[in-house]
Amino acid sequence: MGSVASSVLTAGMSVSDLHGPQLRVRDLEEQLRQLRTATICALNQMLDLKDLSTGTHSARLAEWAIRVGEQLGISDLGLRDLEVSAILHDIGKVGVPEATLNKPGKLDAEERKQIEKHSEYGWAVLRVIPGFSQASLMVLHHHERIDGKGYPSGLTGENIPLGSRIIGVIDAFDAMVSDRSYRKGLPSEEAIRRLQAEAGTQFDSEVVKLFVGIAIWDLQEVTESV
Ligand SMILES: [Fe+2]
Repeated sequence: MGSVASSVLTAGMSVSDLHGPQLRVRDLEEQLRQLRTATICALNQMLDLKDLSTGTHSARLAEWAIRVGEQLGISDLGLRDLEVSAILHDIGKVGVPEATLNKPGKLDAEERKQIEKHSEYGWAVLRVIPGFSQASLMVLHHHERIDGKGYPSGLTGENIPLGSRIIGVIDAFDAMVSDRSYRKGLPSEEAIRRLQAEAGTQFDSEVVKLFVGIAIWDLQEVTESV
């Protein structure tokens, strides 16, 4: 028996007296879990209002991110941060002018700068929410590159948070295979080939290797079920 419980019992309390506080802790944990889920949903709905929600894409993205994170041995707490940041990594796009976001053609330098601001905007939104500070850092750096040519900070290699490196790979894959109003998505095999070609320069090589293993497995399952 632990020393805290022993000292309580010797002070004249029964074991059943301990259940009250334990229940309250469980209630509080459940309330926190619900608050966290509600916060994610509310922010996702805000993305929806600006037609920025990727709906099932963000859920798929989070699922892939967690599977890669598990294989890399990230803790349960870290996986929770990773899930939040995978779902909300582009929340900062609400601060980018719609004309720029929806422009079908090539962006000029000023428009590119406006778009690139979204990772800092996302960080600014999430960092003020209790429990989301780690996730906010993953969002801030999700467009960094291993070779240091990314944004906003030009971080290199392992200086980039691991969660950001995971989201960077999965988000790029998802963007390549998704249809846009102005172009059709690439076949998954071609998107995988491009990820592998950029491993070590744009993307983390280990993350690419693990993600490609998962993606190929998923693709096989889809093909076999058709
Ligand atoms: Fe982004």
